[in-house]
Amino acid sequence: MKNCLFLSIILVGMLFVSAASLQTAFAERGEEYEHQDEARGGEENEARGGEENEAFEETGKSIGWGTAAAMAGAAVLFPLRRSSKRLLQRFPRHKAQIVFLLKRAGSWHIAMGVAALLFGAGHGVLMYIGEGELEARDWIGVGAVGFMAVGAIAGGQLARKKAQGLRFVHMGLLLAASAGALLHIALS
Ligand code: HEM
Ligand code: HEM
Repeated sequence: MKNCLFLSIILVGMLFVSAASLQTAFAERGEEYEHQDEARGGEENEARGGEENEAFEETGKSIGWGTAAAMAGAAVLFPLRRSSKRLLQRFPRHKAQIVFLLKRAGSWHIAMGVAALLFGAGHGVLMYIGEGELEARDWIGVGAVGFMAVGAIAGGQLARKKAQGLRFVHMGLLLAASAGALLHIALS
């Protein structure tokens, strides 16, 4: 229940960001048209199409950052768990907060992961509509989403049965997805 709530909050947040960028893109377009004369030739229609694509791209870009943020939010479980002993030794007076953080990271992990997958796919589709073609950089992104999708299946199994092999597969696939995503962002 808490996970659903959290996922809804992220989704609504992203919807706001997307709506804001769509709004900006269309508002810019509207302003431009105000300054144009009445005649509506073929060339202008073409230009309008171009700007519509730009709106898809701008929306897609914000969802791209949403994907990166959700991935980071899911991945934080790993360094937190690894450093938990050291953190507790170093800050014994903050034990309650550290335990709270660890529990939260654990219970939000799947919601963050699912959000990352949905955003990644949505971002890819919007960027494709916006750009109309896929370059090498984009294929790296497609690969990252692919690894994430297969990794999510392993994650689903892991949620039902805590097996070391499954954890290894899940982490390996998501490490590959994260490396792909970082390369993709670096090339953008
Ligand atoms: C895990 C998957 C992915 C992540 C984390 C990701 C993230 C990002 C980010 C953060 C940007 C920069 C946006 C900006 O410039 O403000 C970006 C750009 C872009 N992404 Fe992705 N992306 C992913 C997958 C994909 C996929 C699957 C596609 C295509 C099918 C794609 C196509 C693009 C394109 C075309 C750009 C624009 C580059 C530019 O114009 O500079 N991405 N992505
Ligand atoms: C897409 C949906 C996802 C599902 C269903 C999922 C599910 C799971 C589950 C059930 C665990 C075991 C947690 C536990 O031991 O209590 C786990 C661990 C882990 N997941 Fe995911 N996950 C998903 C996405 C992600 C993403 C996007 C990342 C990173 C980018 C990620 C990275 C990890 C790591 C590093 C661990 C191991 C944490 C540790 O034990 O130290 N997962 N995942």
